[in-house]
Amino acid sequence: MSLQRTFAVIKPDAVAAGNTGNILAEIEAAGFSIAAMKKMHLTKSQAEGFYYVHKERPFFGDLVNFMTEGPIVALILEKENAIAEWRKLMGATNPEQAEEGTLRKKYGANIERNATHGSDAEETAAFETRYFFNAMETV
Ligand code: TYD
Repeated sequence: MSLQRTFAVIKPDAVAAGNTGNILAEIEAAGFSIAAMKKMHLTKSQAEGFYYVHKERPFFGDLVNFMTEGPIVALILEKENAIAEWRKLMGATNPEQAEEGTLRKKYGANIERNATHGSDAEETAAFETRYFFNAMETV
C-alpha cells in the first residue's frame, strides 16, 4: 500500500495539560511523518465549520465551546494506511472504552475532552486538510 495522509488535531485539553510534546513523540515513534503542523486558537465559527457534520447532535454546542477554549495543534500525518493507523493509535472516542496504551486512554478525560482528533475516512481527511492548511503550508 502506498503512503496515505490524514488530518489530526491535538485538542485544547491536551495542549493545556502540556502533553503536546508527548503526543508528537508518540506520533513519530509510531512511524508517522509530520507533513504539516501549526498551533492555532479556533474561533467559534471555525470550530462550527470543522464539526458541521455534528451540528444537529445534542453535544454540538459543548463540543464547540471545548474546541475554542484554548489553542490546538493541527497536523497532517503521513504513513501507510494513515487514516486507520492514526485512529488505532488514538483509541476509542470515549477514553473509558479506549484500549490501554492509546492516546485517548492516556491523555483523555471523557468522551468530550478526549485529547485528539483524527479523520475517519478519505473524504473527511480531504475536507479537513483543506479546511486547515493551504498548499504552501504542507510538505
Ligand atoms: P465522533 O466523530 O463520533 O468521534 P471521533 O472523534 O472518534 O471520530 O465525534 C466527534 C467528537 O465529538 C468526539 O471526538 C468528541 C465529541 N463527542 C461528544 O462530545 N459527545 C458524544 O457523545 C460524542 C459521540 C462525541
